[in-house]
Amino acid sequence: VSLRPYNTFGLDVRARWYAEAGSHEDVPRIRAAARELGMPLWILGGGSNLLLTSDVQAVVVRMVNRGIGVVADHGDQVILEAQAGEPWHPLVLRSLELGLVGLENLSLIPGTVGAAPVQNIGAYGVEFKDVMHSLTAVNLHSGEVYEFSVEQCAFDYRDSLFKREPGRWLILSVRFALERKGRLHLDYGPIRQKLAEQGVTQPTAIDVSRAVCAIRSEKLPDPRELGNAGSFFKNPLVASSLAATLRERYPDLVAYPQPDGRVKLAAGWLIERAGWKGFRDGDAGVHSLQALVLVNYGNATGGQLLGLARRIQADILERFGVELEIEPNLL
Ligand code: EPU
Repeated sequence: VSLRPYNTFGLDVRARWYAEAGSHEDVPRIRAAARELGMPLWILGGGSNLLLTSDVQAVVVRMVNRGIGVVADHGDQVILEAQAGEPWHPLVLRSLELGLVGLENLSLIPGTVGAAPVQNIGAYGVEFKDVMHSLTAVNLHSGEVYEFSVEQCAFDYRDSLFKREPGRWLILSVRFALERKGRLHLDYGPIRQKLAEQGVTQPTAIDVSRAVCAIRSEKLPDPRELGNAGSFFKNPLVASSLAATLRERYPDLVAYPQPDGRVKLAAGWLIERAGWKGFRDGDAGVHSLQALVLVNYGNATGGQLLGLARRIQADILERFGVELEIEPNLL
């Protein structure tokens, strides 16, 4: 099969073996088939955080199990469960319809529920780990099913145990700890400004979701229109001394001091400052509105996109002394 419909960069690589699991009961059969073929298993979620550079030598597995429901209601606190195959943004909308607060800042992120924990998706001051209650995953090596707490997932910025051990864990379902009267997170840059523009003075979670959707749509290309995988690089953490040196040279440097004394730089700012914003080489390019996003104008290959990424990394290292780390999973 061609994996083109299953990755948001729209890359046309092929997989010889492809299986869909409609429930956890399909997993043993798929494991047995892979063992017989002598092939590893490889899990595909929404394909929105993925750069495919060659045909896949593995059995590709996609969870397509569906279902969303309240599993515990403690008055103000509600545990909402979603199966891994649910698309992410409709889940956010469903939680808001149920009157629940917690997922609004994570509106309009592409991908599936099962993929969200893998890279600990985050936006506008909230990360997946902040709203997760627990999750269920199967160990594909042993076939055993485990329940994970937040601590056991070993989350970090755009990182988790699941991302560090590719092919080992298949996430089946996720439970979220949401609230009926939860606190809204409005402090990340453009949210208050957008709410004010929209004339909202007493925002609800639904208002915040709308504001986030508006902010994202202004800068981030819709993968159905222009192939991309969101941010292509992580925002780099650097020593405060390097940040201070850079600040002297570039007074408008975008930098956020971290609790551990280091400083997080806006990779998009560095890339724009280096002149890459809107750059295009064949069909591989840097988005013209958000320099952190690489785009496929049609027929770029994964190799061409990776080549562009390597050129950007080398240039940023040379100009600023900063190493950029690629954010999507490479295959
Ligand atoms: N900036 C520029 N030029 C650019 C892009 C950004 O100067 O071309 C500056 C902006 O002006 C702003 C700063 O960089 O001052 C931060 O930009 P923005 O708010 O757009 O966010 P980001 O740091 O580029 C991160 C996440 C996004 C997430 C947003 C909002 C990473 C790698 N990316 O982007 O996540 O939506 O913050 O929270 O952390 C993703 O991971 O795929 C993703 C889209």
